[in-house]
Amino acid sequence: MKRIGVLTSGGDAPGMNACLRAVVRTAIYHNLEVVGIYRGYEGMIDGDFLKMDRHSVSNIIQRGGTILKTSRSPRFRTEEGRQTAYNRLKEAGVEGLVVIGGDGSYAGAQAFYHQTKMPIVGVPGTIDNDLYGTDYTIGYDTALNTAVDAIDKIRNTADSHNRLFIVEVMGRDAGFIALNTGIAGGAEAVLIPETPTYIDQIITKLETGWRHHKTSSIIIVAEGDDSGGAMEVKDKINEKFTEYDTRVVILGHVQRGGIPSCKDRVMASRLGHAAVETLMEGLTNLAVGLKNNKIVHTSFTKATKLHQEMDLTMFELVEILSG
Ligand code: F6P
Repeated sequence: MKRIGVLTSGGDAPGMNACLRAVVRTAIYHNLEVVGIYRGYEGMIDGDFLKMDRHSVSNIIQRGGTILKTSRSPRFRTEEGRQTAYNRLKEAGVEGLVVIGGDGSYAGAQAFYHQTKMPIVGVPGTIDNDLYGTDYTIGYDTALNTAVDAIDKIRNTADSHNRLFIVEVMGRDAGFIALNTGIAGGAEAVLIPETPTYIDQIITKLETGWRHHKTSSIIIVAEGDDSGGAMEVKDKINEKFTEYDTRVVILGHVQRGGIPSCKDRVMASRLGHAAVETLMEGLTNLAVGLKNNKIVHTSFTKATKLHQEMDLTMFELVEILSG
């Protein structure tokens, strides 16, 4: 293998640039050439490539987002789109690929591998932390810190006005951001897709708190919770409990931005380095990950079928600590 391609795909995540830097610098260290592919699979289909050298990734380790840009690509879901992308890579002399992204990006990588046999290694990059085969995904730590910082600020105003705040956080179908934000932010309750919605118990808890002169409360709702989201939770609570003046905050894409945390930079550097070495070992159709702080490999088949399991004792912890 003489030349590899690298792309970022799906939702951007803080730390993707640190990972890209690690891919480029590791490849160059091993005398491989690197082609940066802009806009994820979309750019692959369009041949939107740039040859990268050591300096292409200077001064990016601390930057959020992705300098390669990213996309979600409906065209890449078609056989025709993937064939065009393959032709573009061949023209550019690319013999292996590193794909930094989430489960949609892995599904695309797997389909591409099956169709073209192009060697591919995935790197887990998503704030959702929902990927099987790794304890950690790039961007998750920064997103958590952003969400907790927001909760701390909301608590100030909640307390000043004696209000109930219902805060919706991202995570798609997974509740990792919600659960950990809830614990770190001292929330009264957390609603996540992995557990049944329990509005009645939450109301009972709010009533008890109110009787004990609790003046403000915060409830975290994962966007994928089956309650439907923070607005719906507010309506359901207010149907039966109206003591608190209630406000809704949807944190949204602010959770995807910002300077990557130290943990995200270190993990992204390790994973990017491991991805290149994995490709060089001749392994393909799999993702690198970190399990118990060690680099591991998981096939795309498993990584796209299974989900990261949640430790539900953490959920009980919210209940116990929020008293
Ligand atoms: O997967 C990352 C993520 O931020 C999810 O948490 C969220 O559901 C989704 O992407 C939002 O996607 P988009 O930026 O396309 O609206």
